[in-house]
Amino acid sequence: MTARRRTAILISGRGSNMAALLAAAADPAYPAEIVLVLSNRADAGGLARAAEAGIPTAVVESRPFGRDRAAFEAAVEQELARHGVELIALAGFMRVLTEGFTQRWAGRMVNIHPSLLPAFPGLDTHARALAAGVRLHGCTVHLVTPGVDEGPILAQAAVPVLEGDSESSLAARVLAEEHRLYPAALAWVAEGRVRLEEGRAVIAAQPGASAPALRNPA
Ligand code: GAR
Repeated sequence: MTARRRTAILISGRGSNMAALLAAAADPAYPAEIVLVLSNRADAGGLARAAEAGIPTAVVESRPFGRDRAAFEAAVEQELARHGVELIALAGFMRVLTEGFTQRWAGRMVNIHPSLLPAFPGLDTHARALAAGVRLHGCTVHLVTPGVDEGPILAQAAVPVLEGDSESSLAARVLAEEHRLYPAALAWVAEGRVRLEEGRAVIAAQPGASAPALRNPA
C-alpha cells in the first residue's frame, strides 16, 4: 500500500462530517490519515470529538484577525506545516478563503456543501431549497477553487424533498448523505484518482482497493 496522505480537517462547528471522515480513516486501509483537526472557533463542538478519538487538534481563532484573511491563513498554514499536512478537507468550515490560499492548495483541498451545486451556493441552503420548491435536494463534494462553492464537482448525492418537510427534516436527510459521500470522495483524491479535464473532475475508473464503494441509496 502506498503511504496514506496526511490530511487535516478544518471545522467551525459540531463536526459530524469530521466524525464521518475520522470513522472512515480509522481503517488503516483508508488512503487518507487524519493528522490534524483545526478549528477557527475555540467553541467548536467537533474539537472535543476529535480529541476523544485521539486526533491532534488546533485552534486558530479567526475573529482576532478581523478582515485580514491572509494573516489568519498564514497562522493556519503554520499549523498545517507543523503537522506535515498534504490534503485539506473542509467540513463545515465557515470562512471564505483567499485566492492565494486556494491556489496554494489547488487539487489538494476538498469541501462538502449542503446542496446540489451549482444550485444554492452560500448559506441557508435547505431553507432556500424549500422556498424554491425543488423536488430534489442534496449535497456536493468538490475541489476548492477561489470562487465560493464553485470548484469542480467530485460527487453528489440527491434526496427527495417531501411534502411537509421542515428545514430541519430536510437538513437531516441531506446530512445522512453527506456522511456517506464525503469519505468516498476524499478517498478518491487521496488515492490520486482525480484529474481535471476542461475544468471538470474525472475520477479514474480503476477501483482503488481501499476506496469505499459508493452505493446509491436504496
Ligand atoms: C454541513 O451540512 C456542511 O455541508 C455545511 O455545514 C454543515 C456542517 O455540519 N457546510 C457548509 O455549509 C459550507 N458552505 P457538521 O459540522 O456537522 O459537519
